[in-house]
Amino acid sequence: MGDDWRKRKRSKMSAIQLNHLKFHYTQGPLVLDIPELKIEQSEKVFIHGPSGTGKSTFLNLVSGILSPSQGDLLVLNQNLANLSAGARDQFRGKNIGYIFQSFNLIPYLTIKDNILLGQHFRKSDFNIEHRADQLAKDLNISAHYNKKATQLSLGQQQRVACARALIQKPQLVIADEPTSSLDDKNTIEFMNLLIKEWEELKFTLVFVSHDLTLARYFDRTIALEEINKVVSI
Ligand SMILES: Nc1ncnc2c1ncn2[C@@H]1O[C@H](COP(=O)(O)OP(=O)(O)O)[C@@H](O)[C@H]1O
Ligand SMILES: [Mg+2]
Repeated sequence: MGDDWRKRKRSKMSAIQLNHLKFHYTQGPLVLDIPELKIEQSEKVFIHGPSGTGKSTFLNLVSGILSPSQGDLLVLNQNLANLSAGARDQFRGKNIGYIFQSFNLIPYLTIKDNILLGQHFRKSDFNIEHRADQLAKDLNISAHYNKKATQLSLGQQQRVACARALIQKPQLVIADEPTSSLDDKNTIEFMNLLIKEWEELKFTLVFVSHDLTLARYFDRTIALEEINKVVSI
């Protein structure tokens, strides 16, 4: 793992690089017009902005769920627009961990099965069950490992979603307002645990929120309206 990171650092490729990126939904107005943005590997970046200004849209572009209308977007040196839909899904599964605002846990599955969801057929160079155990310990949810998702508090559920996003040791972690349904105590616990995982894996972290008090956990803070030329009404 440490070696991987050193190799990545040496290679000097950016985690995310975009040039003249424009995006609009089908028939909709322009949502994003970002002339330039570069995010380096292992950087922890906080992006904030009011609701409706395109934060989730930006993250969906970075993860290849949406494709740019114009311009270039390189993620881990890969132009996602050049990949087939299947190859894009594969790229995302291997390299990107996504933590959503709503946790998207399967209610009738246990915590363990939620963390391992979709991993059984994926190749890893480590023992995936062991990794899930370790993450559950790190994220303070191992006491609930065999409970159903619905038996957990919101704070605990969000930590399960975090474990699921980190299980493949992704190079890039994307978080879309992951603390917005948590109270202050759970927000602080979540942030501390996420940063602790970062200390170990040194993934690139792109974290979006409208809550500016979270900026202190990050290396760089970007206001979306500073980089986006589309003026929202
Ligand atoms: N699937 C969609 N189809 C059409 N318009 C959308 C869709 N998703 C979001 N939008 C519009 O794009 C703009 C940006 O939305 P979004 O990226 O969700 O903002 P934020 O995450 O900052 O709240 C809004 O005007 C929203 O209504
Ligand atoms: Mg959003």
